[in-house]
Amino acid sequence: MPSETNFAPVKTGLRISTCMTIAAPLVDSFGRAHTNLRISVTDRCNIRCFYCMPNENVRFKPRHELLSFEEIERFARVVVPMGVTKLRITGGEPLVRHEIHKLITRLAAIPGVQDLAMTTNGILLTDQAAALRQAGLNRLNISLDAMHEETFAKIARREGLQRVLDGIFAAQQCGFDRIRLNAVAIRGLTEDEILPLAEFARKHRLELRFIEFMPLDAEGRWDDGQVLTGEDIRRRIEAEFGPLVTADRADPSQPALDYQYADGAGRVGFINPVSQPFCGDCNRLRITAEGQVRNCLFSTVEWDARQVIRSGGEDDQLADLVRACVEAKKPGHGIDSPEFLRPRRAMYQIGG
Ligand code: 5AD
Ligand code: SF4
Repeated sequence: MPSETNFAPVKTGLRISTCMTIAAPLVDSFGRAHTNLRISVTDRCNIRCFYCMPNENVRFKPRHELLSFEEIERFARVVVPMGVTKLRITGGEPLVRHEIHKLITRLAAIPGVQDLAMTTNGILLTDQAAALRQAGLNRLNISLDAMHEETFAKIARREGLQRVLDGIFAAQQCGFDRIRLNAVAIRGLTEDEILPLAEFARKHRLELRFIEFMPLDAEGRWDDGQVLTGEDIRRRIEAEFGPLVTADRADPSQPALDYQYADGAGRVGFINPVSQPFCGDCNRLRITAEGQVRNCLFSTVEWDARQVIRSGGEDDQLADLVRACVEAKKPGHGIDSPEFLRPRRAMYQIGG
């Protein structure tokens, strides 16, 4: 047992004394180093995209079950020294979490955080973009699946397209210069949105990424016939705008296949988790709004960081928990395998 006197320095020196364990990179058993943490801050949302949430009677987590900003910051301060350099805030819809810019301020102050981004549906951005920017958010991904209100409403089951567009422009005016649009593609529904989205993105200097519909919808209606593949979309875009040229991959672990238009006006990318799984390069870890650590969108197992935090656990216990989660990561999601099991949680309960 450490005596009182030598216990104190160990505690205060935790960052130093356990540095060896804490600072070792988060490499899984397939050699993938985890440098990217996605932090969900709420399961609530102000719209109801069918590929993510139920339409009615959603049972959201009570407030006290969600990690506080202090708890999220603590978790981040443990994982950043383990090599996590990129943080992304997700939801649900992160902008419905009260005073979310205050969390951004806390996270931006952590030494070692090189990239602090957020994925939002954009509906509340007009009011919040300036505060987010000022707090230190450096990148925004905005979900935009359709340029026609009718299609938008079929997907989101609420209105809001104009508010999203206003939010995009507001963010640009506040100095967000690398805004990326995420468009979930659904066969039989969004084919006629492809070219208008591409035109909009080109015109306003926004990067556009199409994402294949994944089996993470709360209503469990996904089937592979609804997957409009990236290849299919690429062909349609090329037929209109000419051949796409493969763009350099600045970060090989990022999941999109990015292209440049032949005329040089912008970029378009494809995230093809269903038709071309990219699990082999995955460097992502997730923590849900209630503090459950996941090593994959499709994990069926979680590691309870909230329990460690709320029972007075030390930083090294949290670090061990994250390491155990990473070590247990499987090689891939196996959506196309007959043994594939959908996770219990839907997208809004995980964080995109
Ligand atoms: N399949 C693919 N993408 C999804 N998203 C939400 N649910 C799904 C799904 N089932 C996307 C949203 C948003 C991000 C959080 O994840 O459009 O861009
Ligand atoms: Fe809300 Fe995003 Fe889910 Fe749509 S995908 S319901 S915007 S959390």
